[in-house]
Amino acid sequence: MRKARLTAVCLLALAFGAASLLTSVDAKITKGNTRAAQTKYLMRGIVKPNCGGLGGLLKAGPKTDEEWDTAACNASCLSEMGHVLMADGRCPDKAWADAAKALREGSDAVLAAIEAKDADAANAAFTTATGSCAACHKAHKK
Ligand code: HEC
Repeated sequence: MRKARLTAVCLLALAFGAASLLTSVDAKITKGNTRAAQTKYLMRGIVKPNCGGLGGLLKAGPKTDEEWDTAACNASCLSEMGHVLMADGRCPDKAWADAAKALREGSDAVLAAIEAKDADAANAAFTTATGSCAACHKAHKK
């Protein structure tokens, strides 16, 4: 009788432990440990506009110096977001880490192509960068 009760208490403690672990993993996806910004605001405020802007410029092909410069600005911000997504304990697993790496490396390659004013190479690299959106969202976006 006593033993059964003890087992029940242990099981309950285990269940609570597992539940709090799950919540903390979820918390890391939606927000880091110490910084204020929620992931959705980084996505809406930084990732989405820079991705959309860059996609539009690359599709049409940047023509003026100002357009090349804006494309470089967009790619730089996306690259940096690949670092930010790994900071402050936000990364929960390998799927996230791999996607953040693809965002970083794809954006860096876009930036290098922009610096060389090579629109074809920039478009190819942009595909790698945008592949990261789908990969991470499939695993972690509800
Ligand atoms: C490493 C993971 C990861 C990568 C890479 C990533 N996202 Fe996200 N994104 C998320 C998560 C997680 C959410 C959901 C956040 C939430 O609702 O708390 C999200 C949500 C969003 C949202 C909805 C924001 C809102 O207003 O609720 C947009 C738009 C978005 N992402 C765009 C993008 C684009 C575009 C890319 C690629 C250039 C991208 N994301 C790459 C993880 C990622």
